Amino acid sequence: MSQGEMIDTHVPLIERYRERLPFADGDPVVTLLEGSTPLLYAPVLSEMVGASVRLKLEGANPTGSFKDRGMTCAVSAAVREGAKAVICASTGNTAASAAAYAARAGITCAVIVPEGKIAQGKMAQTLIHGARVISLAGNFDQALELVRELTETHKIVLVNSVNEFRIEGQKTAAFEIHEALAGELEVLCIPVGNAGNITSYWRGFREVGAAPRMLGFQAEGASPLVLGHPVEHPETVASAIRIGKPVRWEDAMAAATDSRGAIRSVSDKEILSAYRLLASREGIFCEPASASSVAGLLKYGADGAHEVACVLTGRGLKDPETAIANNDGHIIQCAAERAAFEEAVLGDP
Ligand code: F0G
Repeated sequence: MSQGEMIDTHVPLIERYRERLPFADGDPVVTLLEGSTPLLYAPVLSEMVGASVRLKLEGANPTGSFKDRGMTCAVSAAVREGAKAVICASTGNTAASAAAYAARAGITCAVIVPEGKIAQGKMAQTLIHGARVISLAGNFDQALELVRELTETHKIVLVNSVNEFRIEGQKTAAFEIHEALAGELEVLCIPVGNAGNITSYWRGFREVGAAPRMLGFQAEGASPLVLGHPVEHPETVASAIRIGKPVRWEDAMAAATDSRGAIRSVSDKEILSAYRLLASREGIFCEPASASSVAGLLKYGADGAHEVACVLTGRGLKDPETAIANNDGHIIQCAAERAAFEEAVLGDP
C-alpha cells in the first residue's frame, strides 16, 4: 500500500477524544471514521419556538445513526480482549452498526431483532454486512433479556448499551456540541428508547463541566419513564424507540433530574408532523424516532432557553416505508411523448 492510501481525511472518534476515553495509545482501534457530525442551525424551528435551535445530525455517521460512536468503542474493546464475536438485541440501528464494525474487525456478529418491527434500511444494512440475523417472535425487551442471559454463559461480547464502552463512545456527541457552541447550550432535546444515549450525553456534558437541561422524549405508546412503570406491549410508529423496559432507566431519570430537565412523551401524530416539517421546511430527512426530539420541543417549548439543540439520531433513509406512507406528494404517471410530458410538468397538479 502506498503512503497516500493510508491517509484518511477524517479523525477516528477514539483518536479525537482518546484522553477522555478508556483507550490507551497502541490499543486496537476499529473505526469507520465516525463522529464529528454537523450541528446545523434550523431557521424555521428557531422562528417557531423563539430560540436558536440547532440540529445534531447523527445520521451523518458511517452507518447512518449515533450508534457508531458507541460501536467503535465497544468493538475496539472487544478486539482488545481477544473476542471473536459480538451480539446485540436491536430495533435496527444497533444491529446495523454492530454488523458494520464487526465486519471491519473481521469478527462475527449476531443480532436479535423483533420480527416485522425493524425498518427496511436497517435490515438491508445488517444483512449485507454479513451478520447472523435472528428474527424473534417477541419484542425488543424480550430480545434483550435473551441476549443478556446468553452472554452470561457464552464468550460473546454484548454490545447493547448495557456495555459501558457504548456509553463512553456516545458521550462524545456532548463534547462536540459543547465545543461548537462554546459552552452556551441551555437545553438538549433527545429521543429516549433504551435510554443509553441520554445517559451518555449527560455524562459527556458533566465531564466538560456543562449542565444543559436534558429534555428526553419517548413515544406515547412506549413511554415507561413517563408512566413510571414498564410497558408490556410498547407500540409506536417510531420503531427504533419501541421499548417498554429501558436498561438505563435509573441513569436516564438521574440525567433528567440532575439537569433540571424532564422526560416527557409525544404522540405518533406529533412525531410524524415534526418528521414531515423537518423534511419539508428544514431540508433534513431523519427517521421517525429522531423526530421525537423536535416534536417534544414544539409541544412543550424551549422553556425560556436561548440556545437549544435537538439530537437527530438517525437518517431518514433507514425507514423508507414510513416516508412513503406519510407525505403529501404524489407520483405523476406519464407516457413517453412530448405533450403528455409537458402536461405532467406544467399542468395543474
Ligand atoms: N433514535 C434512534 C434512531 C434509535 O435507533 C434509538 C435506539 C434511539 C433513538 C434511542 O436511543 O436507546 O439510547 O435511548 N435504538 C436502539 C437500537 C434501541 O437497537 O437500535 P436510546
